[in-house]
Amino acid sequence: MIDAVTVSPSDVMLGEMEIHGAVADTARYLMNNYGAPKAGFVSGRGATLIDESGREVLDFLGGIAVCSLGHCPPSVSDAIAAQAHKLIHTSNYFANLEAPKVAYLIDRLVAPSPGEEGRVFFANSGAEVNEAAIKLARRYAGPERTRVVGLKDGFHGRTMGALSATGQEGKKTAFQPLVPGFSHVEAGDTEALEAELAKGGVAAVIMEPILGEAGVIEVPAAFIASVRELCDQFGALLILDEVQTGFGRTGKWFAFQHFGVKPDVVTMAKAIASGFPVGALWARAEVAKAFLPGDHGTTFGGQPLAMAAALATITTMIDIDAPALAAERGASLARGLASTPGIASVSGKGLLLGATLKSAAAPEVAKRSLELGLIVNAIGTSVLRFAPPLVVTEFEIDRALEILKVAIS
Ligand SMILES: Cc1ncc(COP(=O)(O)O)c(C=O)c1O
Repeated sequence: MIDAVTVSPSDVMLGEMEIHGAVADTARYLMNNYGAPKAGFVSGRGATLIDESGREVLDFLGGIAVCSLGHCPPSVSDAIAAQAHKLIHTSNYFANLEAPKVAYLIDRLVAPSPGEEGRVFFANSGAEVNEAAIKLARRYAGPERTRVVGLKDGFHGRTMGALSATGQEGKKTAFQPLVPGFSHVEAGDTEALEAELAKGGVAAVIMEPILGEAGVIEVPAAFIASVRELCDQFGALLILDEVQTGFGRTGKWFAFQHFGVKPDVVTMAKAIASGFPVGALWARAEVAKAFLPGDHGTTFGGQPLAMAAALATITTMIDIDAPALAAERGASLARGLASTPGIASVSGKGLLLGATLKSAAAPEVAKRSLELGLIVNAIGTSVLRFAPPLVVTEFEIDRALEILKVAIS
């Protein structure tokens, strides 16, 4: 047992730190890879965040589609606190009570029909489960089929494999050479995909059902159906990256369920544990079998504390029917955005929406919105992304639309 002492060496050391507030200190001590922080927050509840000065801000980005139950949902905070007092970590040499329950629920939500069951692997982020998905597909396909095809503008994370699968050149240029064997086709270009697959050696096609990071661009339903058919024809696996779209965000548990296609592999993260770092890889049972002991792993993946957060999040989502909330509130927000002066068009599904402005002023509108008390996210010069908590109220939607109107004008 470690006893607390009144004045410890760490107090002395921290006392020597010059403290200027979250924003300034972040800029001083952390790397600059995210650029200068736009604000600093100390607490949150529902769709509201509170900054260091006590100012309330409406969060319509939801930690980038993470805080689907709002900030600090009581059921999740309680579960984390209770688990933190029981057992935080053991290692993957040992089992815990929570991980199998989370895996069971994920399996039921991804593959609700009998006979379609799969298996789950847990990691700590979206990029990591995409890495795992690529390795699993390669392991399943064998040494003759090592290529992976992704979509232009698709995003799968910043680690080297996930970055190689990403189809956004701007994020990749400085890190060449990347992992070999990746190629990309335009979303909607069935002929190009067929030509890539016909070259042979493709283990998997990886894609997002909605291109979230590229500006909430909807992939045509007919193309998604063709991808499935072509994967079957050429013996490639279909990996759907539902890191941003999963867990009810688009109005279904997973976005692929809008399209009637069945993936072989699904990756998920973000909303799965309300902000506790968790990623999950689901694969059809036959594909999942390709991972043998020692093939893959991560120290923290599936540990009790992370799994308690995921379990509380997913059970709460099921209890409140999160996809139905996303569909209903998403329809209100989309209607409001479509009738907001200065907005040319609205894309997306449920509560993952993109608003394309008539002018190339998205960064300025996002900045002004924050000053007025609303967080939205600018993608490129003309798109604003909205991913508020699925529990956002109609009142909060009206308030956000009022702020946005002022910011745009
Ligand atoms: C579709 C998609 N895949 C993967 C990632 C990477 O996830 P993470 O940032 O947790 O590594 C993201 C993150 O934005 C994403 O939107």
